[in-house]
Amino acid sequence: LKAKSKQWEKEAAEVKQAAVLGAGIMGGGIAYQSAYKGTPILMKDINEDGISLGLKEAKKLLSKRVAKGKMKPEQMADALNNIRPTLSYGDFGNVDIVVEAVVENVKVKDSVLREVEDQVSDDTIITSNTSTISIDTLATNLKRPENFCGMHFFNPVPMMPLVEVIRGEKSSDRAIATTVAYAKAMGKTPIVVNNCPGFLVNRVLFPYFGGFAGLVRDGADFQRVDKVMENFGWPMGPAYLLDVVGMDTGKHANEVMAEGFPDRMKTDWKSGIDVMYENNRYGQKNGKGFYAYE
Ligand code: CAA
Ligand code: NAD
Repeated sequence: LKAKSKQWEKEAAEVKQAAVLGAGIMGGGIAYQSAYKGTPILMKDINEDGISLGLKEAKKLLSKRVAKGKMKPEQMADALNNIRPTLSYGDFGNVDIVVEAVVENVKVKDSVLREVEDQVSDDTIITSNTSTISIDTLATNLKRPENFCGMHFFNPVPMMPLVEVIRGEKSSDRAIATTVAYAKAMGKTPIVVNNCPGFLVNRVLFPYFGGFAGLVRDGADFQRVDKVMENFGWPMGPAYLLDVVGMDTGKHANEVMAEGFPDRMKTDWKSGIDVMYENNRYGQKNGKGFYAYE
């Protein structure tokens, strides 16, 4: 197996220029990590607010490193210069790999992926950071599905080592090998997984969120559940983690999982995640979720 793996890893194309679509929680983190580790990255969003948020987050993380003496100010300037924010596809002709990180919605992703495919070269690898949506579904309307695969980061991107590289039915060895190599260049630990809703990690994580939602429905206090899980030894409980993930992403991902695994995930009741979402309590991203934030 090792020899076989080495064989396909040789197919990797060089990544000199990357691009991320969506400058939100994940897109901002991906841009920061790529820039910090030395791969220049274009960061595209559809509005200035998104871009400003992504850049603010990158500046905050880099300033912290400088303040702690882990980075020189000139290294911070170099890293920031590696992030090129944009609202257009103008410079996408020279991009070697794209990471799509827009909202967790099949229709939006389908349209964004088709759009970007028309702007890049025939060799460019296009990946999606989707949490749960089938890579084969997202590949359906692409002209070059062999250049496409999943590249699933975890939140917060700078801190979480794992990246799932998801092999779709038509993903080529070149697409997988290039994505694996780019993840390694970003200092991450990639694993190649087969395609299915939620891939590997979210097949574990979303049933856990479902268990939490069931406890709350049965009358448990969410803060006490969080405290118990912290005492159990986890860095944070499920309510706080949902606030970190974002209730919109959580809700949409949960729906994909319920459709993919109805026997394990579907319920006929409204969960706390649905209630938070309906009340515009998206979590840390808008300052209110299960908890309130400054
Ligand atoms: N962004 C960047 N850096 C961060 C950060 C953040 N959000 N939070 C903490 N850090 C940094 C700190 O600045 C600190 O840096 P230094 O070592 O340079 O000082 C370092 O991380 C350690 O910080 P803390 O001591 O405050 O935090 P910690 O050591 O207790 O752990 C953590 C931080 C690893 C992020 C931990 O809180 C954790 O494991 N959280 C759970 C995260 C998780 O489960 N994510 C998965 C979400 S689900 C998902 O992503 C999949 C999906 O598809 C929805
Ligand atoms: P987010 O809402 O923070 O950011 C999404 C960004 O996409 C916004 O800035 C929005 O303006 C932008 N956008 C929307 N349409 C666009 C378009 N057509 N072109 C360019 N930008 C566009 O969302 P997020 O939490 O960063 O999630 C992004 C993706 O990453 C989703 O697929 C999500 O499932 C996945 N993901 C999220 C997490 C998490 O914990 N939040 C973890 C892993 C993966």
